[in-house]
Amino acid sequence: METVIVYGSCYGTAKIYAETLAEQMKCKVLPYDKVKETDGYETIIYVGGLYAGGVRGMAKTVKKISTVKCKRFVVITVGLADPDDEKNVKNIRKAVLRQIPKPLADRTEFYHLRGGIDYEKLSFKHRMMMKMLYEQVKKQPVEEQDADTRAMIETYGQKVSFVDLACLDNIVKKLEG
Ligand SMILES: Cc1cc2nc3c(=O)[nH]c(=O)nc-3n(C[C@H](O)[C@H](O)[C@H](O)COP(=O)(O)O)c2cc1C
Repeated sequence: METVIVYGSCYGTAKIYAETLAEQMKCKVLPYDKVKETDGYETIIYVGGLYAGGVRGMAKTVKKISTVKCKRFVVITVGLADPDDEKNVKNIRKAVLRQIPKPLADRTEFYHLRGGIDYEKLSFKHRMMMKMLYEQVKKQPVEEQDADTRAMIETYGQKVSFVDLACLDNIVKKLEG
């Protein structure tokens, strides 16, 4: 069964997860903007950074996927929100499912990984987006802030990385099992 890993990454964290996963699963890996057609693959694994709830490059990629030929569609998100928190996972899935056409959405498998951020490397647009978000959440009373909002406030302007390639071991087991 042919498998391909497609990734959407701005700053490299989703890319490193995708490339490591491809090495472990011995399959092809390519960035979403290099995908021409996906018909030759029964399993498509999409690894993408989360940007304001959406997955980088995924909306463009799903348009190229045939729901008949693709037997297994797996989405692995990479974000700052802690995937051990059920509420975060619920929110991520709800937002991501909006980007996937219904027949594919109904059988999409999800996994969630943590990435990182380096404010110095952000594009102007992304820096502005984070600034707006920060200004907004900073006004919330502390008792109303959830763990991720607090973490965002505490790490604003800095460089943080939660990348843990060992988290892929479990995913590989489930994908190959
Ligand atoms: C403008 C912007 C929006 C983001 N939105 C989210 C988000 O909605 N949820 C989340 O968990 N992380 C969010 N992040 C954090 C990124 O998902 C995280 O930095 C990830 O590691 C980026 O992947 P990449 O390095 O492959 O581009 C955001 C980061 C930026 C700069």
